[in-house]
Amino acid sequence: MADVLLTIRTDAPIGVISPRLYGHFAEHLGRCCYDGLWIGAGRTDIPHQGGFRTDVLEALRALPVPMLRWPGGCYADHYHWRDGIGPVAERPIRLGMSCGLQVEDDNSLGTHEFLWLCAQLGAEPYLAGNVGSGTPQELCDWVEYCNSAVKTKLARERAVNGAPAPFGVKLWGVGNENWGCGGNYAAAAYAREYVRYATMLRHVDPAAELVVCGYEDEWNAELLATIGKHLGLVDHLSIHRYWIHGGPETEFDEQGYYTLLAEAHETEAFVQRTAAIMRQAASSKPANDVDLSEGESATEIFVETPRDGRRRLGIALDEWGVWHPEARPWGPHGELSRDPVTYEQANTLRDALAAAIALEGFHRQCRVLMLANLAQVVNVLQAVVMTDGPRMWLTPTYHALRLHAPHIGATALPVDVDHGDSLPDRSSAVSATASRTSHGIAVTLINRHLSKPAGVRLVCDDAREHTGGQLLAAASPHEGNSADAPDRVSPATLAVHSDGGGAWRVELPPHSLATVTFRSSV
Ligand code: AHR
Repeated sequence: MADVLLTIRTDAPIGVISPRLYGHFAEHLGRCCYDGLWIGAGRTDIPHQGGFRTDVLEALRALPVPMLRWPGGCYADHYHWRDGIGPVAERPIRLGMSCGLQVEDDNSLGTHEFLWLCAQLGAEPYLAGNVGSGTPQELCDWVEYCNSAVKTKLARERAVNGAPAPFGVKLWGVGNENWGCGGNYAAAAYAREYVRYATMLRHVDPAAELVVCGYEDEWNAELLATIGKHLGLVDHLSIHRYWIHGGPETEFDEQGYYTLLAEAHETEAFVQRTAAIMRQAASSKPANDVDLSEGESATEIFVETPRDGRRRLGIALDEWGVWHPEARPWGPHGELSRDPVTYEQANTLRDALAAAIALEGFHRQCRVLMLANLAQVVNVLQAVVMTDGPRMWLTPTYHALRLHAPHIGATALPVDVDHGDSLPDRSSAVSATASRTSHGIAVTLINRHLSKPAGVRLVCDDAREHTGGQLLAAASPHEGNSADAPDRVSPATLAVHSDGGGAWRVELPPHSLATVTFRSSV
């Protein structure tokens, strides 16, 4: 088979790949926050810093984690932030509830601890507020407590609790999945609730970026239409995408393999559709990218309102990733569900490829997709880090994300693929994403084919010298890491050959991904 030709189009930059597209999600669900991240300041058997596991902190710092969303998820609409401030011993024990689980929740990981974690990781905090069982006043108070520089009662209380300076939290979710666990609202009813919350929140902190809870197309259209002339109160529309049709977590067959990758690929189309709906809502004119063809990059969305002037609207894909049947209490493969469900699942090279496929779309849609959080950061769902007592290991998804680090904050570039082998759905087996910074150009390539390797010829007029190549591959896409075999799937050096004529050649094994970096002329 002839080489696949990839051409990096340095002349047509798409936009900046915001660090916020590489965000993560930490919910008080199962062993994500408690046990995975936080073991408590009194623990002596596992090394920790201020109560957070040292090994996990170090792994996440290296990833990196530019943004972290907390405390839920469905947990957010039960959470009362005052329970998590003040001396830990005096905090109340509550019912910790999310996704059907009920646990004793001692609130030892609260606002100050979470924001300390973010500072340690260099992560921007994103706090999800309570609409389902809260009030606008409660959420306004949380914003004031975190952000006010005026010496109010709440700001003084923050100082007494150890933080005299405002935390300056920018991102605030107004509820979570309010179409479901966050209150079972109808779209129009939640829209009215949102306007009320957002009006009050903007009074408290005009710089806060507010995230309205979206869902699927119909809900999103009705929600935004009902918000109507108040659309200036929205900064980001939240959507979630879990891939659920790939069959068993490890014992999947060929069809399951390709189905999961196709679901990951379709995330981009969902983002494009959502952007079209938002554009339509923001403009009296007909949407101009409703019919964007697959892979085309949507352009920025602005809304103009008399009160708020011209403001940018973005999409917040604030939960995304694989959710295998073993980790959920619902179908379609109910017989595979674990009892009790822990929301923990195996993570294989297939999951890492799915994440990389989604990231290609995130880069292409970076003018409308403004933030994204992989669900979840430790132990739960598509975690990047797993723990078992004192042991910790990195999942294949961790390594896939690590291979994307050169793209964070860079400018996305289009890649033309002249395709070789096709997948069962006729799409190209090889795909790629590229970006540029002042240091050079990075290209991440995927060979989605289950059994065939691919030779790739990379053409990039600005690539002067190849500076590195890293490959994530394994004998089978079913492979993953564990406490006993933590490095079974981990990056290796990739050979990159220059053809002397300004092009580069690499060999990609089946079901693999790789990042190649170049020094550029500009
Ligand atoms: O990530 C697990 C759950 O999935 C979250 O709590 C909820 O928002 C979503 O349904």
